[in-house]
Amino acid sequence: MKKVKVGIVGLGELGSVHANNLRFKIPNAELIAICGVPAEKEKLEKLKAEWDIPYCFYDFAEMIKLPELEAVVISSSTAAHHEHALAAIQAGKHVFIEKPTGLNEQECMEIEQAAAASDKIFTVGFMRRHDPSYAEAKRRIDAGEIGTPILFRGYSLDPEWVAEYLAKRAAKNGCWFIDMTVHDYDLARWFLGSEAETVYALGGAYAYPVFAETNDVDNGYALMKFKNGACAFYYSGRTAAHGSHVETEIVGTKGMIRICDEPRRDRIKAYTKDGIVEKCLNLYLERWGEAYYLEMQHFIDAVEQGTQLEITAHDGTMATKMGMLTQESYVSGELKKF
Ligand SMILES: NC(=O)c1ccc[n+]([C@@H]2O[C@H](COP(=O)([O-])OP(=O)(O)OC[C@H]3O[C@@H](n4cnc5c(N)ncnc54)[C@H](O)[C@@H]3O)[C@@H](O)[C@H]2O)c1
Repeated sequence: MKKVKVGIVGLGELGSVHANNLRFKIPNAELIAICGVPAEKEKLEKLKAEWDIPYCFYDFAEMIKLPELEAVVISSSTAAHHEHALAAIQAGKHVFIEKPTGLNEQECMEIEQAAAASDKIFTVGFMRRHDPSYAEAKRRIDAGEIGTPILFRGYSLDPEWVAEYLAKRAAKNGCWFIDMTVHDYDLARWFLGSEAETVYALGGAYAYPVFAETNDVDNGYALMKFKNGACAFYYSGRTAAHGSHVETEIVGTKGMIRICDEPRRDRIKAYTKDGIVEKCLNLYLERWGEAYYLEMQHFIDAVEQGTQLEITAHDGTMATKMGMLTQESYVSGELKKF
């Protein structure tokens, strides 16, 4: 079997999952190169030896010079996406990039224009679209099961025990209305089949005042109207006491679909002195493991077969633009128009 030769930059929390999938779970991929920062030398050299990876780099520009390298996975911090994406496209590589594509609309637009001028594949890690439940919901909505979609409701809540960790990495990954809520903007556009028109956002740094220093939130809410008249409500938080909670609802004129309204870890209910207890998912990595695998398999298949994927650089730009305007509305207290 011919294997697509892939390199990955950024082997942090999520990049390690992508690297593991590429190395062990995707039969038509060959992970030939990894790239990080010099401070990670010990970790990366160990990985290179244990996983038998031919190359390890500490400079992305050097990695993409490898002539045999066909595709690049970018899972570095968001602040590095613009530089890495433009360099990979210019080097003629196929690109999978983590969300958000860039820290602001300008960065995303430049990436989008470069991707449009390339004949290679460019896709963004909006993995929720690859999750089997979301993909099935989309098929059923497109088949008319709930009539015309008129409302999207997205809850994306991280557990409170990662809030301090998130605060430390916020400067490199953007505010919460971009870093987290981009997933929901992308889903809202996908399910509602329209583009955003206006947004009004509220929220605050209620439990972690450190977020207020950068006008960021630990709990944020936004109402958005779309050009086709449909609406969306987003609630993105960092202080869920029960665990990692992503819940989506699409209301139509003839019914509604809910995905994962109770983020249970398993199917166990314990009847104890504490009452009837069901454990919640602990971290996002538990919820999305299958979706991370599927999105990467789809990317490698697309490279092998030379077919473009549904999720494009433009989707990345639109989601970041929605995040920027939501943040502007939150800071100014005003309704914002797209
Ligand atoms: N799709 C999702 O559900 C999801 C979930 C988490 C993170 N993400 C995205 O993935 C990206 C990484 O997030 P993370 O949580 O893994 O962060 P992380 O901080 O754990 O990892 C980032 C890695 O990138 C490396 N890096 C940064 N700049 C670099 C450079 N110039 N050259 C080489 N390596 C560099 C860092 O050393 C680190 O190893 C972010 O863009 C984030 O938004 C997406």
